[in-house]
Amino acid sequence: MTDKNRFDEYFLMQEEDAVEYVKKKLNFFEDTSNLQCKEIGDGNLNYVFKIVDKNTGKSLILKHSGEDTRAKSGRKLNIDRNISECKILQMQGELCSGYVPVIYMYDEIMNCYAMEDLSDYKIMRKALLENNIYKHFAQNITTFMVNTLLPTTDIVMDHKKKKEMVKQFTNIELCDISEQLVFTEPAGNFLGENTVIPAMSKFVQDNIYKDKKLRLEIGKLKFNFMNNTQALIHGDLHSGSIFIDEKEIKVIDPEFAFFGPIGYDVGNIVANLLLAWGHGYATIEDSKEKYDFLSWLEQCVTDIIDIFKEKFNKKYKTEVTDLLAKTDGFDEYYLDSILSDTAGTAGLEIIRRIVGIAKVEDITSIQDEHKRAEVEKILIRVGKEFILNRDQYKTGMQYVQTLKKFVN
Ligand SMILES: Nc1ncnc2c1ncn2[C@@H]1O[C@H](COP(=O)(O)OP(=O)(O)O)[C@@H](O)[C@H]1O
Ligand SMILES: [Mg+2]
Repeated sequence: MTDKNRFDEYFLMQEEDAVEYVKKKLNFFEDTSNLQCKEIGDGNLNYVFKIVDKNTGKSLILKHSGEDTRAKSGRKLNIDRNISECKILQMQGELCSGYVPVIYMYDEIMNCYAMEDLSDYKIMRKALLENNIYKHFAQNITTFMVNTLLPTTDIVMDHKKKKEMVKQFTNIELCDISEQLVFTEPAGNFLGENTVIPAMSKFVQDNIYKDKKLRLEIGKLKFNFMNNTQALIHGDLHSGSIFIDEKEIKVIDPEFAFFGPIGYDVGNIVANLLLAWGHGYATIEDSKEKYDFLSWLEQCVTDIIDIFKEKFNKKYKTEVTDLLAKTDGFDEYYLDSILSDTAGTAGLEIIRRIVGIAKVEDITSIQDEHKRAEVEKILIRVGKEFILNRDQYKTGMQYVQTLKKFVN
């Protein structure tokens, strides 16, 4: 192949290819004589190249998808998912400016896109593992959710346009992963691939896999996830998909996005804060530091629910266009179903991150097995309550009350 058309046909790029690609395809760097590239991806699925001009320090990120998952699970995925992800980031940037990385370009042949380098921020999961407190988080994440979610529902958007978008963003393969890993497998361990530490084995059998009432409710939540095309949701809004600093957040990685229940995003955020709570509870030795960190997380969960409701109701009044959705009482009915999905999803996400195959560092990095089991039991009990009584959770405080109920 001649150099000229090296990037005319897709191939899986390595670091050297990414440098050459940037030189040929982007006008981002004024001087390309001293570019350095490092692959910094830590996820299972994609390649993330950081390219820096060593002369000036100017940098960008090139995210690129391959067919095979990096985890070598044998799963094949469509490489064009990268472009959907990029288009969603652009759309979210329009709806909520400054809350996602700036996109410089995308390439539908090479299945890559170039974006703002956010290396000055921290991935929130890592920051929470260091017990950092972010008082602005509840305000920022609720702004992001309300501003990106409500406008993509068909109570706001033109019904026909929304249906076109549902088609465009139907995400068969990545939804299949969520259906399996968030719903089916955590409920029943049907493939036998779930794992838990020995001290948790019987507890998980008795309290999850043998609990048919729980399985029934997870089943209902699964089919709501699959059939409720409410809004264009992020689909994987956990603390590893959020960059944070002292003032702001940047949401990344909407690869799992599709038209699904709004509460799926809200519940994911809540769950991941509670998983961080579990880490803090089990590992922080200094009692003041522990109190400060855990009480901030509890307040943050409370605020997220309450501020989400407040901002949602405010935006509802000004943006809803559907004539029937403007009827008195419809807003309450609509928000009620979102809150129920929020509690249900929060419960599912907590449980699947403890028993399922995609665990989180918040839990796996707890060295003391006794403490880890203690925390896992608390969180599983909390998660079950959220799922089984999801219709009851209407205020933020109730989430914390449930947590407190299971802490000795
Ligand atoms: N815009 C960015 N700026 C700096 N680092 C980034 C950026 N996007 C991704 N990364 C790094 O790459 C990692 C994986 O990116 P992510 O988009 O989550 O990929 P995946 O789809 O594989 O999960 C992130 O955790 C982060 O460390
Ligand atoms: Mg990721």
